[in-house]
Amino acid sequence: MYKSLEEIACAQILSNESEIFSIEFENQKYWVKKARATKPNKIQKFFYQILPFELLMPSLPKSAKEALVHETAKLELFRSKGINVPKVVYQCDDFFILEDVGVAIHALIRNQHITQEKMYYYINKVIELLATIHNKNQFHGGAQTRNFTYKEGKVFAIDLEESFTSSIDIETLKFRDFLLLLLSFVKIKASFELDYEYIIQQYVALTK
Ligand SMILES: Nc1ncnc2c1ncn2[C@@H]1O[C@H](COP(=O)(O)OP(=O)(O)OP(=O)(O)O)[C@@H](O)[C@H]1O
Ligand SMILES: [Mg+2]
Repeated sequence: MYKSLEEIACAQILSNESEIFSIEFENQKYWVKKARATKPNKIQKFFYQILPFELLMPSLPKSAKEALVHETAKLELFRSKGINVPKVVYQCDDFFILEDVGVAIHALIRNQHITQEKMYYYINKVIELLATIHNKNQFHGGAQTRNFTYKEGKVFAIDLEESFTSSIDIETLKFRDFLLLLLSFVKIKASFELDYEYIIQQYVALTK
């Protein structure tokens, strides 16, 4: 019997324990993300109470439904602004389905045999996308390299579920994004040192 993409996803939602997983439909790959509540990190919350430094602010807690609505709406908003994000191909109260946008940048750059040329090729593309997001007066919210992907020469932003109280200004959130991205580079195992000054200069040059 012919099954639609939603039916295949629905059946797997029940049997698959992962909160996010890929499925195949008519030779295309898709990602299914279950609705789940977002909670601020406990350690971060604790530190923020004793050290109310804006950059340490915890994200807002959201119910599963709120988190799903927030993430899909932000994906649509970014798409309408010409920011590379996966298309939301289906959504209901319990899950949403995204088109596949390739391999996580984190997976590509953590290879210890990566050449400098390849490393900076990916890093420059991520910086370009983050600068595009920021130049459109938006923020990512979880700008670590695991939340950017690469497919056919293009970098995409994924995992837009974080949100913050409206009292925090957009410039702080942009700065936080950039710091998160820089911190996520620390985990790479390349045989050469990363030139952080170059990376910072690239970002500064590309942002208004
Ligand atoms: N549309 C997509 N195309 C390709 N890969 C994807 C897509 N969506 C998710 N992934 C893969 O699944 C992983 C987890 O997805 P996502 O970051 O949205 O979930 P998460 O559970 O919120 O992650 P985190 O651990 O960052 O909180 C990504 O790092 C990426 O490898
Ligand atoms: Mg993620």
